[in-house]
Amino acid sequence: KQSLPLYGKKAMVTAGPTYEAIDPVRFIGNHSSGKMGFAIADELATLGADVTLISGPTAQKSNQNLKRIDVVSAKDMLESCNAIFDEVDITIMCAAVADYRPKTVSTEKIKKQENNLTLELEKTTDILSSLGSRKKTNQILVGFALETSDEENYAKGKLEKKNLDLIVLNSLKDTGAGFKTDTNKITIFNKALERTVFDMKSKTEVAKDICEVILKIIK
Ligand code: C5P
Repeated sequence: KQSLPLYGKKAMVTAGPTYEAIDPVRFIGNHSSGKMGFAIADELATLGADVTLISGPTAQKSNQNLKRIDVVSAKDMLESCNAIFDEVDITIMCAAVADYRPKTVSTEKIKKQENNLTLELEKTTDILSSLGSRKKTNQILVGFALETSDEENYAKGKLEKKNLDLIVLNSLKDTGAGFKTDTNKITIFNKALERTVFDMKSKTEVAKDICEVILKIIK
């Protein structure tokens, strides 16, 4: 174990969607399957890291060789991330966190109304940004971007704004890339805004590519 490249390193990975309650039976969510984040957590553990996977509601099974914390909402995920961030060397934020949640959560099931229903939404905390703003120089922070237009410029903007070491861009324009598929096509930007384009691969292989780039930064 000592010979593994990430032996002695602690890593944290977020994965999956978040669910934001509307009332006791309804929520706002998204189509994230969690596959990419789980594959990355697995790969980091295989490389010897002590991995904590913080996951929203998914059907994914995690390996025995990592710690798993299950959360539901963006607020839960923020709290779990905040609790361990200071101790971790590598953080990879793969979760599709809700940007908005219902401002009030009804304690009773909302009854069908005569007319339309308006829900007021409030912003959630951007977990990645808040970790970026307190990141120490020896910590590596990796974010994801899923864009539908002007992808590269948005990705580079996020890398700088959120104080990241790497940003992994996946475009919805590529068939076979994105939320529910078993494959993904990524482009990685580093702090120098240098671009590496990867081929379409299985998410397991994509996870290996991402970890290889991280290993290069650590060395
Ligand atoms: O700005 P945008 O939401 O596109 O950024 C995506 C990145 O930010 C992902 O790495 C995602 O996990 C993270 N994120 C977060 N908390 C949020 C929203 C996004 O950590 N509330």
